[in-house]
Amino acid sequence: DLMTVTTDVLIVGSGPAGAGAALLLSTLGIPNIMITKYRWTANTPRAHITNQRAMEVFRDAGIEDQVLADATAHHLMGDTVFCTSIAGEEIGRILTWGTHPGRRGDYELASPCLPVDIPQNYLEPILVRNATERGTRTLFSTEYLSHVQDADGVDVRVRDRVTGHEFTIRAKYLIGADGARSQVAADLGLPMVGAMDIAGSMNITFKADLSPYVGNRPSVLYWVIQPGSNVGGIGAGLVRMVRPWNEWLIVWGYDITQPAPVVDEAAAKAIVRSLLGLPGIDVEITGTSLWGNNEMYATRLHDRRVFCAGDAVHRHPPSNGLGSNTSIQDSYNLAWKLAAVLRGQAGPSLLDTYTTERAPVAEQIVLRANRSSREFVQFFEVLGLLDAHDEAEMTARIEERKANTPAGAAKRAALVAAMELKHYEFNAHGVELGQFYDSAAIAGDGSRPVATKDPELHYEPSTVPGSRLPHVWVGDAKTRISTLDLAPMTRFTLFTGIAGESWAAAAEKVSAELGVPLRAVIIGPGREVTDLYYDWARIREVEEEGAVLVRPDKHIGWRSTGLPGDPVQALRDAVAAILGRS
Ligand code: FDA
Repeated sequence: DLMTVTTDVLIVGSGPAGAGAALLLSTLGIPNIMITKYRWTANTPRAHITNQRAMEVFRDAGIEDQVLADATAHHLMGDTVFCTSIAGEEIGRILTWGTHPGRRGDYELASPCLPVDIPQNYLEPILVRNATERGTRTLFSTEYLSHVQDADGVDVRVRDRVTGHEFTIRAKYLIGADGARSQVAADLGLPMVGAMDIAGSMNITFKADLSPYVGNRPSVLYWVIQPGSNVGGIGAGLVRMVRPWNEWLIVWGYDITQPAPVVDEAAAKAIVRSLLGLPGIDVEITGTSLWGNNEMYATRLHDRRVFCAGDAVHRHPPSNGLGSNTSIQDSYNLAWKLAAVLRGQAGPSLLDTYTTERAPVAEQIVLRANRSSREFVQFFEVLGLLDAHDEAEMTARIEERKANTPAGAAKRAALVAAMELKHYEFNAHGVELGQFYDSAAIAGDGSRPVATKDPELHYEPSTVPGSRLPHVWVGDAKTRISTLDLAPMTRFTLFTGIAGESWAAAAEKVSAELGVPLRAVIIGPGREVTDLYYDWARIREVEEEGAVLVRPDKHIGWRSTGLPGDPVQALRDAVAAILGRS
């Protein structure tokens, strides 16, 4: 090929996984090209719930402010309603995404960031713009066709969809972030578990000012259980806020074993009006699209020089809001590893830990999201809708919850229990923040954090190697900053206290010897930062003279309870082990 373009990393896809990888690699100074099939980013709102872990990644990448500027704030996210229509009767409410006063503290204590809502068509341009500004060469309307890898790199055949011209991009590494229908994952033959298209969903986007109906109970999700509404996919009609409170998206299930429904403007308006319970309301339909619900994950996420991230390796319904978040976290795990290997700071075996660390997460979130989706059926069971013969009978059974009868009382009690179970979908803080890595890039002692509460619902901070670095506020009289801010993705960070001062010289020595960016942060009075609330002392789980080594992705790679005889040796061994150099 006369025309071969070369780069360090080629990224296929500009969704949360691909644009996230491009942004992180460019921030780390790694040359990269991102290609994407279409002429621009996502054309529908798609994913929106943005959890604390994803926000922490954006904070580390210096784009948190830009995301917040386009997002709906946390306090407007969570008065989630179950009803027979938006203007109709409520069946119940649940405070979601950590907005319950009893849970808000858990979320505020766990992270410097709160969850927000930003639709994917607002998020992607932020990621792409910043990636491109920082060095990514972004090619829109450019399609991945095939690839061949050898010992030193990957030849990727691509087509410019504007001119039809085909050419080859030679990259040292390839990231397939090409979504749930990933061609890269298919070409790589990644082993997959599960099934695709297990249920059908239809999205209808529309504009209508609903503030009179939702302003008093602000939420991003309003679930409508309505006789005559199709159930499938997500289990009920969902009215989802896109922009407060005049842009919306309805998710409507359809039977995927039947031909796809044709929804023209009149049909779309009828569906919208009936879920809103407002037959006369003037709505502007802005689009409709169909999508399949999947339950599939890869058990291996890479093969030698080719890696897949995002929906390419975990495909699941929107329940729990994990799609975009997990995709960004995949890239956060992969980017620093690629950078370290490309710079000769790490052995190539470090890259194998991408699969070891992220494949269990892929499995966990696919199963969790599908379980949450299935658990919706309990509302139909509890209300007695599953064996009702017609709409009239369904309506009567929903009405029965009001009756002063034994059946009415039983129904009310069952609704309490049904609502309780939804915490596993809407307040699964442990699923969001509790990811733990067990791999060759974790120099642990084989122990795992001991959960004292339900690990899906609750995140519990720990410094056991493999855990995410716990957040506490430290600083001085003028500034308050998070421990997470002190451990940026550009380096390894070693946290210690005043009694562990000699770790600082050890860190400098090991950094110079191994050629790896590594710096110690001493937390204590009169030092770089003070343990303002003594929270670090309470949470660090090591002695004051001990040390906690944090990887660039803010997972703890190693810790030392006290000060060993030879801290240089101990630290060198740990860093070398993590980087696959021992
Ligand atoms: P994503 O699918 O976002 O991106 C894939 C990228 O690859 C795109 O940029 C595409 O152009 C590119 N690409 C694909 N093939 C290519 C090729 N051959 N060559 C070059 N580029 C190629 N989630 C949620 O939480 N709530 C929701 O409501 C929805 N709704 C929703 C609706 C629809 C229609 C879809 C498709 C998906 C959702 N999702 C969702 C899921 C959510 O969008 C998903 O989890 C994330 O976008 C995953 O991000 P990725 O970056 O992995 O893939």
